[in-house]
Amino acid sequence: MLPKLLVVDDDHYTRTLIRRLLDKSAEVHVAADGAEARRRFAAEDFNLVLMDQCLPADNGLELLREFRAQRPKMVAILITGFADVRDAVAAVREGLFDYLTKPFEDLEALEAVIGKALEMDGAYREIDVLRTRLAAEAGAPVIVGGSPAMERLLAQVRQVAGLDTTVLLEGESGTGKDVIAKLMHAWSGRSARPFLELNCGGLPETLLESLLFGYEKGAFTGATQATTGYFEKAHGGNLFLDEIADMSPKLQSSLLRVLQDHTFTRIGSTQPRPTDFRLICATNRPLAAEVKAGRFREDLYFRINVIPVRLPPLRERDGDVIRLAVHFLDHFNAKFGKQCGPFSPAAVRAMETCSWRGNVRQLQHCVERLVALHPGGPIDFLHLCPGCDQGGDRRASNCTASGKAIPLGYQDARAEFERDYLRSLFDSAGGNMSEAARLSGIPRQNLYVRMKRWGYVTE
Ligand SMILES: Nc1ncnc2c1ncn2[C@@H]1O[C@H](COP(=O)(O)OP(=O)(O)OP(=O)(O)O)[C@@H](O)[C@H]1O
Ligand SMILES: [Mg+2]
Repeated sequence: MLPKLLVVDDDHYTRTLIRRLLDKSAEVHVAADGAEARRRFAAEDFNLVLMDQCLPADNGLELLREFRAQRPKMVAILITGFADVRDAVAAVREGLFDYLTKPFEDLEALEAVIGKALEMDGAYREIDVLRTRLAAEAGAPVIVGGSPAMERLLAQVRQVAGLDTTVLLEGESGTGKDVIAKLMHAWSGRSARPFLELNCGGLPETLLESLLFGYEKGAFTGATQATTGYFEKAHGGNLFLDEIADMSPKLQSSLLRVLQDHTFTRIGSTQPRPTDFRLICATNRPLAAEVKAGRFREDLYFRINVIPVRLPPLRERDGDVIRLAVHFLDHFNAKFGKQCGPFSPAAVRAMETCSWRGNVRQLQHCVERLVALHPGGPIDFLHLCPGCDQGGDRRASNCTASGKAIPLGYQDARAEFERDYLRSLFDSAGGNMSEAARLSGIPRQNLYVRMKRWGYVTE
């Protein structure tokens, strides 16, 4: 289904231009004045509103405030003349997605801004759908993602969740192996039974063994009473063994026996006990390579690799960075009682071009830090960058504030950077030149000349 846009502008030329431009990619509705805009807005659920600031009997900005009061997550772009840019900058601070200045010179840029705004609307809507679904599926963890890679993963999880076969989750650190294991439990026929999770990494062999098998009173020094282990506690449910590659060779062979016989014996006992659990394993090191290197038993590998599930790294999930960022923003706003956001287009582009080595976890920490330290209101590229430096790594080859590939010519690359930087700076300074000079450390006069060159100021 095509996204629905409402273009409110008294200028026939602007309405026609946008309609033609988006002819194939959107369903464009137009209104020439406030009264018509109100009527249309009440009748349809628009994905994006493009609003002219100067309407015959209305102020476009006031009208947008009115619309936002009805639909707080409405995504809108204000169309403004150069003279009114200061108001537009203030409006962006109130949560407007972006503003565009007329006349439109660069139609590609116009299309790109509209595309980003629609992506933002999509992210808000998906999160709402997800929340509703979660309310229906109590106990299931929040899994955000609409990229083809994530859709494939979720389809696979749905397919295998209910089967009583061992599942091996493979994926880089922070890709969501824990949450997918929990989802698999929630979607399995065993969800009313226990879900037990044990990380095999970093535990001494004897401790891990006693946690898994349990022990009888007096089995070893300090065993003052009989204790049940995970194999026993997980009976009827799912057992999740994380970082399985770290399991010692001795425990690997014990685990293999338990899986083959469906029985285990507590330490200090000779009596085998039956158990019925479904095993989910996870590893962030490819297990086949561990087998090749002789660190993991091949027979156990074949036994647990019945259904391999690969979790894609964030860099393979097109469009998910912004979905996750919006989700974490909502989450941490609620947690810290703050009202940060929305993200500015430059911030969105910066996040999308970061390389998130730590995957979803790294992005989550970046947004958490941002919300914790941000005074509230819109989040721009400049706010994000300190977090980005520690969080995502700016991709050396093609990361610019604009998110576009860097032109190869040095002069062009520098000009592109300057334009994006000044735009961000101007927005962050609320359109105030002295503040922009203070934030950037560029002398006011010098800054003024540069801003003028890019059309951010006209006088
Ligand atoms: N698709 C997702 N939607 C929402 N939150 C997610 C998603 N994937 C991961 N997270 C969150 O990101 C964090 C890291 O995920 P998780 O612990 O599942 O990763 P992992 O692959 O198990 O990492 P590690 O290899 O370090 O154990 C968690 O806080 C989790 O809730
Ligand atoms: Mg984990």
